[in-house]
Amino acid sequence: ASERALEGILRGRRVVITAGPTREPLDPVRYLSNHSSGKMGYALAEAARDAGARVVLVSGPVSLAPPAGVEVRPVVTAEDMLGATLAAVDEGCDLFVATAAVADYRPQNRAGDKIKKSSETLTVSLVRNPDILATVAARPGAPFTVGFAAETRDVARYATDKMARKNLRMIVANDVSVPGLGFNSDRNAVTVFWPGGQAQIGPDSKQAIATRLVALISEQMDKSA
Ligand code: CTP
Ligand code: CA
Repeated sequence: ASERALEGILRGRRVVITAGPTREPLDPVRYLSNHSSGKMGYALAEAARDAGARVVLVSGPVSLAPPAGVEVRPVVTAEDMLGATLAAVDEGCDLFVATAAVADYRPQNRAGDKIKKSSETLTVSLVRNPDILATVAARPGAPFTVGFAAETRDVARYATDKMARKNLRMIVANDVSVPGLGFNSDRNAVTVFWPGGQAQIGPDSKQAIATRLVALISEQMDKSA
């Protein structure tokens, strides 16, 4: 039923989606990362494909099968993800959706050899990673750009702040404090904000939420065309 609802609404559109976590290496055997499963981004890639779009999925390390009919470009670190995303956007992109849980920081130094255990405490210096979403949205001729916001409190305020600060057309806010929803789960509930409107979607499967999101995004893209 959901596939019929999407029929052709993104036909001819080129879509780039980031998904999954990034991994930031400390040494050859260790990394910093997070619990993102990639499920929301993969579900969105499939929904955009079903809507007739050509989809490039820039994916951090996840244990999901590559969706049929979607071009998956695997990456590991946030810096890799930025490079692969800008390359994909430069190839032509009408819609960019950032679902990835990008590590905000990476270890300042990456040890060439495995770090050996010695003192009782160990301090690791971290440096900020580039913001992929804000970088894409700030480019001349930027695609219609949609962000996600993972929050544990003041969801609406933080999400709309992010939308304004990163110059987004739409933001999908996730309350990650709700047990059984969001991160690493098959289900989610989101509130979508755009300038002048908002919509509540779910709780529902990530597939059902992706379908509704693609319909909403396509509607807003048509309005602003
Ligand atoms: N994002 C990104 N690159 C980063 C960090 C975040 O592209 N280096 C994107 C995410 O994919 C998401 C949006 O920015 O679409 C918001 O991510 P979030 O972690 O909620 O926001 P941050 O801006 O990182 O702020 P904070 O973590 O401090 O809340
Ligand atoms: Ca963050």
